[in-house]
Parts: sequence; structure tokens; C-alpha cells
Amino acid sequence: MSFVEYSDLIRDGDVAIVYLGHESMMHVKVKQGAQTQTRYGVIRHSSDLIGRRYGSKVTCSKGGWVYVLHPTPELWTVTLPHRTQILYTTDIATITMMLELKPGSVVCESGTGSGSLSHAILRSVAPTGHLHTVEFHQQRAEKAAEEFKEHGVDGLVTVRNQDVCKDGFGVSGVADAVFLDIPSPWEAVGHAKAAMKRHGGRVCSFSPCIEQVQRTCEALAEEGFEEISTLEVLLRVHDVRTVYLPLPDFGADVFAQARADGAETKPQTPVALKTTTPPREMQGHTGYLTFATKPRT
Ligand SMILES: C[S@@+](CC[C@H](N)C(=O)[O-])C[C@H]1O[C@@H](n2cnc3c(N)ncnc32)[C@H](O)[C@@H]1O
Repeated sequence: MSFVEYSDLIRDGDVAIVYLGHESMMHVKVKQGAQTQTRYGVIRHSSDLIGRRYGSKVTCSKGGWVYVLHPTPELWTVTLPHRTQILYTTDIATITMMLELKPGSVVCESGTGSGSLSHAILRSVAPTGHLHTVEFHQQRAEKAAEEFKEHGVDGLVTVRNQDVCKDGFGVSGVADAVFLDIPSPWEAVGHAKAAMKRHGGRVCSFSPCIEQVQRTCEALAEEGFEEISTLEVLLRVHDVRTVYLPLPDFGADVFAQARADGAETKPQTPVALKTTTPPREMQGHTGYLTFATKPRT
């Protein structure tokens, strides 16, 4: 198992996603002899997981069942252990597209945080690209490096434990794209430019507050970045439901005469329709995404 390559069978040492319901998933480290408790009972790794196909329906000890799924960056984002606030798939999808990430891209990122975005970047740039990620909190940097190894992607990523605003990304002239998710991104814009290739590339900064955005845009303009644009992405998830619509009353009973004549009439049952309903509450503001282009030099 690797987060950037699919395999059919669950093996000892894999990270698998246990699907209990759409809103309820967890990751498990598959280990010979180990057990995992779920609300449907115990999953025994040796007999229930190892050697079975990803996507299998596994019956737990209490008779309930779960699906065991192959890990993906999206499933990892909803099951990972939070060490920081993280980016979610709606923002990540926009970042991936607007940074023009593709197999072979070299990307710089700071901070690594909980590695939610890092996993998505790695999947996009594999098998020939590379991620240079910088995290100044030592335990977070170590934990991220450990997870990358467990997930079979350590060959695609270098984790540096340093302050990106003081020491930069540890590389220069190599990056196609740079991503910043730190409190003072304007202090890292010069380092972002130095890390990027001579023939340019794309940069993105994520900030919750508009004052951070203003300072970052100023710094980007001062460093000669072009096509500076800030956007926010809001997700609306619709529920699918069956609704019952009563038949309209058109006044006179057109079947009355027929009934009087003894004919069979259709019962006036409401009509069942499948429809989607917008959410009553929506996920709120996560942050502003500021994009810019480094011109060729
Ligand atoms: C919000 S988290 C990043 C979350 C990450 N994007 C994710 O999706 O999991 C911000 C991280 O940046 C780190 N950080 C803040 N300032 C930094 C700096 N100047 N240099 C390096 N890392 C920094 C913090 O320690 C924290 O772990």
C-alpha cells in the first residue's frame, strides 16, 4: 500500500480506512494479531483484514459490518490525527488546480502542519516530482516525516525543521509552485521567489484574515509577482431525499360521475419524488486563497 499507488490486497503494515458511515470513518494501522474496536464490534486484523481485497465488506464481532477502503489523500484528510488546523478537500482541490500541479512538479510548502495538504500534493506530483516541506515545530516535523514513511511516500518528500521566514525552503531555483499556510506569509514571499525556477511558476498563500491577505498581496507585488488574485471557495452539499407532494385539487371531482356509474377510480395518493435539498447550515469561512505568478527572469 502507498498513498500514491493502488494495491488490491490489504497487507500487514498498511494504513487502511474503515468506513462505518459517510460521516464516520477511521484509519487503522494493519498489524498481524491486532484488533480494532468499532461500534459494530471487533475487527481482527489477521483474519478480517490481511489478505482481503480493499473495498471488502467486513463483518465485525457483533454482526454489524464495515467497508475497508484503500487510503487516499481525501480519506486521510477526514481521518488524520489533528496536530494543527488543517486544509480540507474543497480548498485543496482549488489549490491543486490553480498551482497547476502535475506529475513531475517540484513544490515547496510551509508549514507542514498535520500533513493534510502534503498528501494531496504528493499524489499529484508522483511518481517523478518532489515536495520540499518546511515546519518549524520539531515534533510536528518529526511526526510528518514518520507518517510519510508509513504511507510509502517518503521518497517523494523532504521535511525540513526550520523557520521558513528566516531560513527559507532549503532549496533555490527548483520549485514550480510554492504554497504557504503560516501566520505571516508576507515574510516568506522573498524566500518563495528564491525557491522557484528561473522560468517562473505559481504561488499560493492561505490566510483566514483579510489583513494577512493585504500584506501578502503587497509583498507579492513588491517582489514582482503578477496575476495576483484572491478568492474564497464555499461548498454547498445537497442531501438527496424523497418528498411526497399532495395531488393538487382542481375543484370539481372529475371521477364522481365515473364512481356513480360503478367504474373503478384511482386512489388520490400523494406523488413520491426524489429531490435534493440545500443544507440549512453551511460550512463557514476557512480562509482566503491568494494566487500569483512569478514571471520568467
Ligand atoms: C495551519 S498549520 C498548516 C496545516 C497544513 N496546511 C495541513 O493541511 O495540515 C500551520 C503550520 O505552520 C507552522 N509554522 C508557522 N509559522 C512557521 C514558520 N515561520 N516556519 C515554518 N513553519 C511554520 C506551524 O507550526 C503549523 O504547524
